[in-house]
Amino acid sequence: MKAIRIHAHGGPEVMRWEEVELPPPALGEARIRHAAIAVNFSDINQRRGGFYSAEPAPMPLILGNEAAGLVESVGPGVTQVAPGDRVAYVGVNAAFYQQTGAYAEARNMPAARLVPIPLGISDGQAAAMMVKGLTASLIVNRVYRPKPGDAVLIHAAASGVGLILAQWASHLGATVIGTVGSPDKARIAAAYGCEYTILYREDDFVAAVRGIAPKGVHAVLDGVGKDTFMTSLDCLRPFGIIVNYGNASGHVPPLDILDLSKKGALSVSRPGLSHYLKEPGALHTAAAELFSLAADGTLKIEIGRTYPLRDAAQAHRDVEGRMLAGSIVLIP
Ligand SMILES: NC(=O)c1ccc[n+]([C@@H]2O[C@H](COP(=O)([O-])OP(=O)(O)OC[C@H]3O[C@@H](n4cnc5c(N)ncnc54)[C@H](OP(=O)(O)O)[C@@H]3O)[C@@H](O)[C@H]2O)c1
Repeated sequence: MKAIRIHAHGGPEVMRWEEVELPPPALGEARIRHAAIAVNFSDINQRRGGFYSAEPAPMPLILGNEAAGLVESVGPGVTQVAPGDRVAYVGVNAAFYQQTGAYAEARNMPAARLVPIPLGISDGQAAAMMVKGLTASLIVNRVYRPKPGDAVLIHAAASGVGLILAQWASHLGATVIGTVGSPDKARIAAAYGCEYTILYREDDFVAAVRGIAPKGVHAVLDGVGKDTFMTSLDCLRPFGIIVNYGNASGHVPPLDILDLSKKGALSVSRPGLSHYLKEPGALHTAAAELFSLAADGTLKIEIGRTYPLRDAAQAHRDVEGRMLAGSIVLIP
């Protein structure tokens, strides 16, 4: 089969379209013929190297964490799925930056980690809502649940996770303010649950937020990190919470915990998807909830652009260039 592999960390140019040997599925594994593979910002961090893990990544490495497709064959002992089933997955058994391998035409996966895709959800949507939708689920179900009357600030609201969070928070009754990098992204964010949008590369977003919510917002959901985190503390009302779930602009600098008291008894959370998915049953319960919210139209899964899998390097360039909105999907 063909796959996108890297032999060393670096820019998009290290991504190579190569022939790779795929062994038959082992005990407890199923072979998935991929129909859609979603790109996540963590793929870029993994490609760049040294971002999450102090351990060197095993090379050569196939990138990617989330995909959907058809079960082609199963190894011994598999009862959960059968050939012909349409399934999606996120990660394997480890943290999401380990045991990658989705940027490939096919892959062997532990059958217990596969989620059946219901009718009415396309392969592209299913792939696009694995890491991104489950990250939104992690925030809404474990960290901060928006409620009617809350004001919520979502950074990079037109990003893959951002659009899902904006719709979910709005569905739960919150007033959603989204920051975005361009007027086009503002239009998209507005169509996906943001009552207000702020062009945070041009305007002072703290002043804009205070203009909309003079007492401050109840929560900030931040996947941007370095460029937004510290300033966002000034957007919160007393006892507000900031949830930093990502680092698209880089790591958040060290925080003096006393500042949280000075700025209004604030809370900080830094959740990670792998901890959520380690809870027994969480993967299947959370995926079922997501599929149901997508099927009834509460969550629209925006596929911003698709690329042939062999052009994954171009997809990375465009994501890093902040040119895209919604989820990006690779088609083998
Ligand atoms: N905690 C977890 O377990 C978990 C799970 C999944 C994802 N994440 C993280 O969540 C974040 C969002 O993921 P995603 O897949 O939704 O991202 P995405 O769709 O690729 O969007 C990222 C957005 O971040 C904004 N951005 C700000 N500064 C940027 C920079 N220097 N370079 C590139 N983009 C920048 C851009 O939007 P604007 O142009 O509007 O500024 C960009 O479109 C990522 O940091 C990802 O690693 C965390």
